[in-house]
Amino acid sequence: MKKIAFVFLTAAAFFSCSQNSNSNQYLQSQIDSLQSQINNAYKPGLGEFMSDIQVHHEKLWFAGTAQNWRLADFEIHEIMEAVDDIKTYASDRPEVKNLVMLQPAIDSVNNSIQQKNVVSFERNFLTLTNTCNNCHQSVNYNFNKIKIPDTPPFSNQVFKIDSAK
Ligand code: HEC
Repeated sequence: MKKIAFVFLTAAAFFSCSQNSNSNQYLQSQIDSLQSQINNAYKPGLGEFMSDIQVHHEKLWFAGTAQNWRLADFEIHEIMEAVDDIKTYASDRPEVKNLVMLQPAIDSVNNSIQQKNVVSFERNFLTLTNTCNNCHQSVNYNFNKIKIPDTPPFSNQVFKIDSAK
C-alpha cells in the first residue's frame, strides 16, 4: 500500500511540475510575441513630428495675424503637444536635448495670444521662427531654414473669422 501511495505521489509531483513548466513555456512565448509586436510597432520619427510642427507653425501665423485668437490658441497648443510627443517618442535622438530652447519662445507667443495682442504676436512669432533655425543650426541642419510664411498652407481653410476674436 505504501509503495502504491509513493508511486502515486511521485507521479502527481511529476505531473504538476511538467504542467508548471508547460505553462511557463506558454507565458514566455506570449511575452516574446508581445515584445516583438512592441519592437515592430509603428513609431513616428523626429522628422515626422517636425513636419507636423511645420504645418502648425504656418497656420499659427495666419491665425494670429488674422486675430483669430481661438485658432491661434489651438495651433500653439498643437505645437506644444508635438514637442511633448518628441520627448516621449524620439528620446533616442541626441538632438532632442536642445528642444528646451524652444520653450521660452513658445511661451511668449502663447502670452501674446492670451493677451490678443497682434503686435507682440508678430514679434514673438519671429523669435519663435529664429529659435527653430537656431536649433537646426546647433544640430547641423542649417540647410533646413524656416521663415515667416507668405501664403496660407491650405486653400480650404478660412483664417479670418470675425466671431473668433
Ligand atoms: C531640437 C532642436 C530643434 C528645434 C527646436 C526645432 N527643430 Fe526642426 N528639426 C530638428 C531636427 C534634428 C530635424 C531633422 C529630423 C530628421 O532627422 O528627420 C528637424 C527637421 C525639421 C524639418 C524638416 C522636415 C522636412 O521633411 O522637411 C522641419 C520643416 C522643421 N524641423 C521645422 C521646425 C520648426 C517650424 C521648428 C520651430 C517651431 C523647429 N523645427 C524646431 C531639430 C529641431
